[in-house]
Amino acid sequence: MSSILVTGALGQIGSELVPALRARFGTDRVIATDLRVLPSRAAAVEAPYDHLDCTEPQQLHEAVRRYDVGTIYHLAALLSASAEAAPQLAWSVNMAGIYNVLEVARAYYCQVFFPSSIGAFGPSTPKDATPQVTIQRPTTIYGVTKVAGELLCDYYASRFEVDTRGLRLPGLVSYVAAPGGGTTDYAAEMFLHAMRYGRYTCFLQAGTRLDMMYMPDALAAMIQVMDAKAGLLHHRNAYNVTAMSVTPAEIAEAIRQHIPGFAVDYEADPVRQAIADSWPRALDDSEARQDWSWAPRYDLEAMTKDILTRLQESLVAARS
Ligand code: NAD
Ligand code: SER
Repeated sequence: MSSILVTGALGQIGSELVPALRARFGTDRVIATDLRVLPSRAAAVEAPYDHLDCTEPQQLHEAVRRYDVGTIYHLAALLSASAEAAPQLAWSVNMAGIYNVLEVARAYYCQVFFPSSIGAFGPSTPKDATPQVTIQRPTTIYGVTKVAGELLCDYYASRFEVDTRGLRLPGLVSYVAAPGGGTTDYAAEMFLHAMRYGRYTCFLQAGTRLDMMYMPDALAAMIQVMDAKAGLLHHRNAYNVTAMSVTPAEIAEAIRQHIPGFAVDYEADPVRQAIADSWPRALDDSEARQDWSWAPRYDLEAMTKDILTRLQESLVAARS
């Protein structure tokens, strides 16, 4: 049976996607790869692990041949804030990465997952109930690479019959690995700081409304869309998905239901605030719900309870 290759596997998503895929398909069948050297304590992404730079086509070809890869989850990319700080690097990693992955997928008949984003939309996109098919004129380099990636994936599907599938993911909230330079990172940071220090300084304004999703729902969505029968998919790249539309103030209030004294200061970072202000407030994900039965399990309340319980457990375990 062929293997599953994950690029960018040491990041926020990969640190949880790799164990989820291994639990389902077997450890040996899931090959975690990243540009970074595997840190000794990264138990979640233990072997099989390989160093792989997705901008180097030869490395991808060798990995796909060596491990007999049939599916690629291509996670490697620079996120919105990191990309805005280094636009040339972001273009090179995000675009060369997806192009090389698609080329290797064309040569070896691999299925490809591409994680697009709410960042694929821009200020001229309808902000509420953002439709599946709508205006996509992003004003960030991250968004430009996501729209181009979506289109390239669709092109490879229609021109070369590569089985590409994608999601427009919202901000992902998790506690396992730190987020990697995005505009929505504040949400994951808020939970950690609430638990550790009882206080957080948020880099977005209190009322900035964006789509969010708890990581277990995101993992389920990624695996589910790849599993879906091709005939059910009216879109490939990429489906709108969301679980909640929330502001920093609402997340802080949900945390206060468990940690009453939690205090938040707001010191908006102009770059990340401008990025957030250019994105939708709430996606319409009804097509994903209809086509492949997408349904999130966690709303803000359920996510908050679960994260704080798990962070508390890990703090107790670390102390004993
Ligand atoms: P992350 O920044 O946490 O991880 C990205 C990983 O890619 C890092 O481990 C990094 O070392 C690796 N990487 C960077 N350059 C590389 C290269 N040249 N070759 C191989 N690996 C390289 O990102 P993430 O949050 O895990 O996101 C993964 C994907 O999902 C990205 O494409 C991102 O745009 C998309 N996405 C993420 C979110 C989110 O909230 N986390 C939301 C929407 C979309
Ligand atoms: N969470 C991501 C970011 O903020 C959205 O794609 O960059």
